[in-house]
Parts: sequence; structure tokens; C-alpha cells
Amino acid sequence: MVSFMSEPKKLFIKTYGCQMNVYDSERMAEALGSKGYIETTSADDADMILLNTCHIREKAAEKVYSELGRYKDLKAEKPDLKIGVAGCVAQAEGEEIIRRQPLVDLVVGPQSYHRLPAMEDAVRAGEKALDTDFPEDDKFDTLTKRAKVSRGPTAFLTVQEGCDKFCAFCVVPYTRGAEVSRPSTRILREAEELVASGVREITLLGQNVNAYHGHENGLAGLIWDLDKIDGLERIRFTTSHPNDMDEALIDAHASCEKLMPYLHLPVQSGSNSILKAMNRKHTAESYIKLIARIRKARPDLLLSGDFIVGFPGETEQDFADTMDLIREVHYGQAYSFKYSTRPGTPAAEKPQLPDEVMNERLQALQSLLREQQTETQNTMVGREVKVLFEKSGREDGQMIGKSEYLHAVYANAPQSVFGTVQSVRITESSTNSLAGTLI
Ligand code: SAH
Ligand code: SF4
Ligand code: F3S
Repeated sequence: MVSFMSEPKKLFIKTYGCQMNVYDSERMAEALGSKGYIETTSADDADMILLNTCHIREKAAEKVYSELGRYKDLKAEKPDLKIGVAGCVAQAEGEEIIRRQPLVDLVVGPQSYHRLPAMEDAVRAGEKALDTDFPEDDKFDTLTKRAKVSRGPTAFLTVQEGCDKFCAFCVVPYTRGAEVSRPSTRILREAEELVASGVREITLLGQNVNAYHGHENGLAGLIWDLDKIDGLERIRFTTSHPNDMDEALIDAHASCEKLMPYLHLPVQSGSNSILKAMNRKHTAESYIKLIARIRKARPDLLLSGDFIVGFPGETEQDFADTMDLIREVHYGQAYSFKYSTRPGTPAAEKPQLPDEVMNERLQALQSLLREQQTETQNTMVGREVKVLFEKSGREDGQMIGKSEYLHAVYANAPQSVFGTVQSVRITESSTNSLAGTLI
């Protein structure tokens, strides 16, 4: 008997922004999988294009419109092609997106991804579909079962979404809504499924992951439960807020072997008056004290941070205070940004600094951070680190993985090390990676 199977439809997802979007893109692909879609890596042969967008800075948001513009010809050639915008720009701008770019068929906010299959029906019927509610039903309730695919050895797992902190510069509380934690039982089930499909390292994600309260003992409680899963070898979490680093979490860094010695703990500025204007609710001194406590618990911990230069009202002295804080703390890794005005946030009302001043400060700050990053990397040379191998290198016989400190490490090794943790002696430090030999 001959059966006529319909061709699977192809889905192209382009992801911008933070790791939570990476995770969400996977979940959206799974949700549309139920409608017969398989993923493709090229927009040209797609039946649906989804842009999973970021609204954090102006540039990030503008990229979306230039990308959409590029699909004009493609849509003219393929009238059945459907184009959707998801993520934080979708949440922030909603219907405005379709008004500004009429070739968009679908706009879906980050809390509504479980409604995608129904929205797909609507766009196939020729309608425009828009959903930017913060629905009562939690998207994760519906999106519980992960597809049984074979995976790489590392995975993200969102445990908490949204933010109640309202830093004066930030759109996240508006685009992702109030802080919501997923129950730990569901997270543990999802983690077990991931491990069963080959995952060895899980990074727990949240806009304020250490504010997680889906477990009676908070994020530390969840980490200790994950610690019991056989086959899971490494646990990480990001991003944390200094005010939510509780004693139990610091203790976990001291005593949980699976919890990796790496912490991303943004401070944004080293000036107390700017921190106050940013509504950060901590001081430079309290941050420095906290870092000392964390380093006492885990002396080899690699610290990472985020900085904003040119926040409205930032003086030369405020900026010098930030540089002093960086010198005192010493970062192994950091991200830094020019302040970007975001519509609807309190800081947007304030007079802005000239762009030249911001550029100059950003350059000085980045060169100091780069120096510290290089110094940190250089101290790895001669040391033995543990590497989880994730992929083949470009050269024959070369494999690439991550050390416990999240440094990329190259080593000559057989394919069989893929997905395993191996001891490596570091022999070389280059711009953004280390090289070493298997022990
Ligand atoms: N929840 C995380 C970070 C979220 S956004 C936290 O609180 O640390 C990631 C980073 O983007 C922030 O840490 C901040 O440094 C930067 N950022 C956020 N809004 C910004 C803006 N309006 N202009 C420039 N950088 C911004
Ligand atoms: Fe934004 Fe501040 Fe919340 Fe981080 S803590 S997501 S910077 S409002
Ligand atoms: Fe961007 Fe939204 Fe993440 S604004 S940084 S994609 S939470």
C-alpha cells in the first residue's frame, strides 16, 4: 500500500537576547512540532519564520525591524510563508509591530507560547494573530513534556521568570511581568528527562534566578535536589541579584560539588548615588562585602558581572567609583553596556549624557575588564581543570569543552570524550579560550 505522507512544514527561529530566549525558542519549536513543523537553519526554505526578540537596549529592538525588512522579497515569492514576532519586543510593542511592518502575521508575548498551535491555525486561515496577555494559565503547565530528542551535553532550564525589582533603566519587569517561580517538582522532572536524553550540565535560568521560591528552601533547596540526580554532573544558575544571595546559596557554593565555581552577579555601578538612582537597593560596600563572603565559601570562584556606563546623572566621580569597584573586586568575565533609554522606564524621563562621554567611559571600562579577564585566564596556565566536552574543533582530532570556570578549552582528544568530563592540564591562554592536554 502506498501512503501519501504530507511534507513536514519548516520552521526557522532566530533568537536574540538572553539565555531565557534560547530556552523559549526550544520550547516554541516543540509546541509547533505538534502542528507538524520541523526546524530548519535557513529562512529561505521556511514555511514559518519566528523572530524571538529582545527589548533590553534600543539597538536590540531596532534589529528586529531591519531583519523583518529583509523578508519582504521572500514573502513576495512565497505568499504562504508566515512571519511571527515573539519575545520581549512582541510584549512591549504588541500590535504596533503589525502596523509598522504589515508582513508580520503573528505577534506572541513570552507568557503565551503555549497558545502558539492555536495561533498557527489562525494565521493559516489568513488571519493576523496577536497574544500578549499575561494569562492565568502558566505556559509551563502546558509545555511540561519535553520532546524525546537526543541532545548535546549542556542545557538551559528556566525555573523562574519575570522581575519585581524595577531597576530604573530596565524593561524586563514590563516585558516579562511579575516574578513567577515554577514548582520544583516539575523542574526536577524536566531535569531528569534532560539527563535521560544525554544532558550532563544544566544551567538554571531566571531573570532573578536566586529569588526562586518554587522550593521551600529556595534556589539552594532546588540545587540540592538536582544534586541527587544520577548522571547530572554539573549545575549552574544565572542571573542573580546581589540582594537575593542568601546564606544557603553561598553555602551551596562551598559544599555542593556539582555546583560550578562560577557566579554572574551584576552590580551595574560602583557609585552609591547612581545605585540609588538606579533603584538597585544595595550599595557598593554591601556588594563588596557580599563578594568577600562568597569568595570565603568558594575561594576559586570565577566572578562575572554587568555594568552600565552613562546612566543619567553619572558624573566623572561616579564613573571613577565604578572603576575603583572593578579594581577592588576583580572580575574573571564581564559584560558592559552604554546606557540605553527605554520607553516607559523611570530613567527615560531624565536628561541623557552626551554619547561621546558614554563612549569614552565604556572604552576605559572595557579595557580594564579585558585586562582582568586576561589575567584570570593566564592564571589557569599550568593548572588542571575539569572539562565537559561539547563539540569537535575545526582541526582534526581536536575537541572543545568548558572548564568548571566556563572557559572554553581546546584539547586533542578522541571523539569518545564527547559528553564526558575529563581532566585537562592547561598549557596556553589565548584571547577568548584556553588550550590544554588530556591528563
Ligand atoms: N536580571 C538581570 C539582568 C537583566 S538584563 C540582573 O538584574 O542582573 C542584562 C543586563 O543588561 C543588565 O544587567 C544590565 O547591565 C543591562 N541593561 C539592562 N537595561 C539596560 C539599559 N536600559 N541600557 C543598557 N544596559 C541595560
Ligand atoms: Fe532588570 Fe533590575 Fe530586574 Fe535585573 S533586577 S531584570 S536589571 S529590573
Ligand atoms: Fe532581552 Fe527579554 Fe532577555 S528584553 S535580555 S530577551 S528577558
